Amino acid sequence: MNVKNNIQLQPYNSFRTKSVAKLFCEPQTEQELSEILQSYANEPKLILGGGYNLFFTKNFDGLVIKPGMKGIKTLSENDEFVEIEAGAAEDWDNFVAHCVSHGYSGTENMSLIPSTVGAAPVQNIGAYGTEVKDVIVKVKAVEITSGKSAEFSNDECEFEYRNSIFKRTRNYVITSVVFRLSKSFEYKEKYVDLSHELEGILSPTLPQVRDAIIRIRTRKLPDPEVLPNAGSFFKNPILMKEEKEELLRLLPDAPIYNAGHDGFKTSAAYLIEKSGYKGKRKGNVGTYERHALIIVNYGTENGKEISDFVQEIQRKVYHQFNIELEPEVWIF
Ligand code: EPU
Repeated sequence: MNVKNNIQLQPYNSFRTKSVAKLFCEPQTEQELSEILQSYANEPKLILGGGYNLFFTKNFDGLVIKPGMKGIKTLSENDEFVEIEAGAAEDWDNFVAHCVSHGYSGTENMSLIPSTVGAAPVQNIGAYGTEVKDVIVKVKAVEITSGKSAEFSNDECEFEYRNSIFKRTRNYVITSVVFRLSKSFEYKEKYVDLSHELEGILSPTLPQVRDAIIRIRTRKLPDPEVLPNAGSFFKNPILMKEEKEELLRLLPDAPIYNAGHDGFKTSAAYLIEKSGYKGKRKGNVGTYERHALIIVNYGTENGKEISDFVQEIQRKVYHQFNIELEPEVWIF
């Protein structure tokens, strides 16, 4: 059991803010994880994946757990489908590359999302009309409070837009995920931007779709290794009918998508842009010039500076459009 003391978390979060964790571990197996959970039962716990979706505003007086389980293996296959299990610590985009290179379809629209395999189900990552819930069969985890193993079927994960049982309860450490992928591929339009990028190609292949997504994302989104950020900072707001109509009175061109359950999704990036906050910089923090939904860190190590800017955007959007922006990113 390898638990370290006083570890600087700056390298472990993509915003690169400073924070010291009292205790830190990287369990390599489910058994090691289980033993640690039982030995440190009374410590507050925080689970870190790639650290692409959280940042720190203060030190953490507890145990940080970064799952270290690796490996990608095929569990079963027939003519049409393959079931693959991947360890929580696997890099998400490497996993997508693995699937695409084997001709397995289902994850390609989620190319280049900064994540680990274990973090992907937590907020049900998604892009270009696909969510990770569409390809998950099972999630294997260990319960934090008991240290016992647990398995979740797709239904039991209670997936929603950028949400799941794992995010809601924060009581599980995901150790591996089982995916069901298709051995055939036929491009279906789910997102106009992607179809534009593929224009001129009669029937795009799996690698062509992956490459197109990589091109779109590279053009629009900053590389966290170059300009620290956490991807989309806010969720796209879901509005009820009256709220949607109120918004359209103020902004007749606001993008509106049907979100099911009588809800309508609008674009947080659009609202931020219309509030005058696209490409705006304040001190060491700002919104990205090419995408208003991305908050970028130009050099602060103090998470408080980022959270102050976040609140300023929230106040501004609320004041102008009466809509509350909810962060997708966790602020500790
Ligand atoms: N838009 C603006 N201003 C901007 C950028 C976008 O007005 O600066 C408007 C445009 O009208 C555009 C619309 O917003 O048509 C949607 O923009 P985009 O296609 O970039 O998608 P998004 O809704 O901003 C979501 C996900 C992304 C995902 C993309 C593509 C959320 C919170 N974000 O962004 O996910 O890559 O769709 O599918 O749902 C992430 O979660 O970290 C992430 C990057």
